Amino acid sequence: MVPLKRRKVVSSGAGSPGGPGDTGSTGSTGGPGGGEERTRFPQVVLFLLERKMGSSRRAFLSQLGRKKGFQVEELLSERVTHVICENNCGDEVRTWLRLQGGGRTSAQLLDVSWFTDSMRAGRPVDILDGHKLQEQQIDDAEGGVFSVPSYACLRRTTLENHNPVLTDALSLLAENAELSDEDGRGVAFRRAAAVLKALPEPVTGAAQLRGLPCLGGHSLRVITDILENGASREVEFTKQSERFKALKVLTGIFGVGAKTAERWIRDGIHNLHQLQESGQALNRAQQAGLDHYDDLQQPVTRAEADAIGEVVEEAVVSVLPGAQITLIGGFRRGKLTGHDVDFLITHPEEGREVGLMPKVVTWLESQGFLLYQKTTRNSYLEAKAGPARPPSNMDRFERCFSIFKLADAEKRGRKRAGNAPEDTCCPAAHSRVADEGPEPVKPAGGPGRWRAVRVDLVVSPVSQFAFALLGWTGSKLFERELRRWAGRERAMSLSSHALYDSKQSRYLRATSEEEIFSHLGLEYIPPSERNA
Ligand code: CTP
Ligand code: MN
Ligand code: MN
Repeated sequence: MVPLKRRKVVSSGAGSPGGPGDTGSTGSTGGPGGGEERTRFPQVVLFLLERKMGSSRRAFLSQLGRKKGFQVEELLSERVTHVICENNCGDEVRTWLRLQGGGRTSAQLLDVSWFTDSMRAGRPVDILDGHKLQEQQIDDAEGGVFSVPSYACLRRTTLENHNPVLTDALSLLAENAELSDEDGRGVAFRRAAAVLKALPEPVTGAAQLRGLPCLGGHSLRVITDILENGASREVEFTKQSERFKALKVLTGIFGVGAKTAERWIRDGIHNLHQLQESGQALNRAQQAGLDHYDDLQQPVTRAEADAIGEVVEEAVVSVLPGAQITLIGGFRRGKLTGHDVDFLITHPEEGREVGLMPKVVTWLESQGFLLYQKTTRNSYLEAKAGPARPPSNMDRFERCFSIFKLADAEKRGRKRAGNAPEDTCCPAAHSRVADEGPEPVKPAGGPGRWRAVRVDLVVSPVSQFAFALLGWTGSKLFERELRRWAGRERAMSLSSHALYDSKQSRYLRATSEEEIFSHLGLEYIPPSERNA
């Protein structure tokens, strides 16, 4: 057991050395005059455990609680109904309470997540399984059969996932956190899921998780719940919640982010029908997203990605002979399906790529391949971006977010069999469809004629190609971890444009991904093992 410090019997603020035994009379909500503070929830009396929470965070949270009308006791007493803990497990807290000299056990022992959820709701929320302290202490269990490095960029994560039930559950909570503007929690769940993805076999008991990195109390509780009960109540609850369902549907529209969805939900819009009825003004991207909603919800297959690759290649070499395209994103990591298709375009002669994107887009548009596109210009200038300003997550390449019009496989096949093998998409205004027979030029949504597919195009100068390739291959968590490694462990700053070494005050050049890994002091991880 972790050694317990008796001096924390009474936590900061009260200054009294006494144990809970002599504090029963404190009926205030914290300090002199506290009794006059308005308590909105007389049935609820909180005590925040300083152990592992720290005194300053405890003081901050206590103040927050009182501001929201909760009674927060400085001292543990019999009045306390809810003990709020952070990073403690149930056993630890119970032992701690026992050592306080008969500290009462009828109070709920809760994780700080219940407190923060309640603060957000402005009232004491229902206690879910995920809010309760986990019972076993993982550190004490014998187990500990897996050994996993804590940075995802030190691990080899293939697509073979031995723990899909656990990782799906954690990913869902990550998604919910991200959609609720809680990025910190989102990353914590993503990291926990990524650790489980790297395990060589299924987890059968919580004891096996001993010593694994990135598994916080909350994630461990979810995992334990699933292992013991077959499901996590918190995950099931989230999945069923109207708010989560509405956020999913609305952010599923291309061009709609969490903030917009949140605003719509506040206006009572929870689904596509309500959105259409509401008369909400939609921007061009959102309108296109809504028009092609069903298509864009369908995963893109590898065959479709390859078909689009042929078209993009034709476009690129028509407007700039010698230019090269590379499939990036999830498909480069070996995924069989994706939510979009990503391509990186460059030219072996530095500078020739300038202005390429508008020409490619014009070509694609003239052939009727684009249902929507938005191009942004390259805004990266090393002299300006460099040392003073660390590269941000968003890179500044010339890029195009688009929605492609892709002919169905049968039609692509017929064309390939004919005399235009490169013509794999469905060109609405394309002369080559003229001899296709009786089909209408634009079979507007006709079943099986064509589908909409999200496509991302990025243009990089060849000098930055390796960085762009690494940065756009993903996974997103792998990228995040690479940057974290670079910054924390190497005092370097990595972006999709460059690698800057702060100790040497200079940029490190690279012409291949292998070289970048080597600059970072990392073993090379191929794309198929970056599925963190
Ligand atoms: N990316 C980026 N900047 C963006 C969007 C994406 O740098 N504005 C990078 C991400 O870091 C990721 C890659 O582009 O590495 C691909 O992103 P995305 O298409 O969203 O994800 P995939 O891994 O390809 O997943 P999916 O198969 O679902 O498309
Ligand atoms: Mn992608
Ligand atoms: Mn993409």
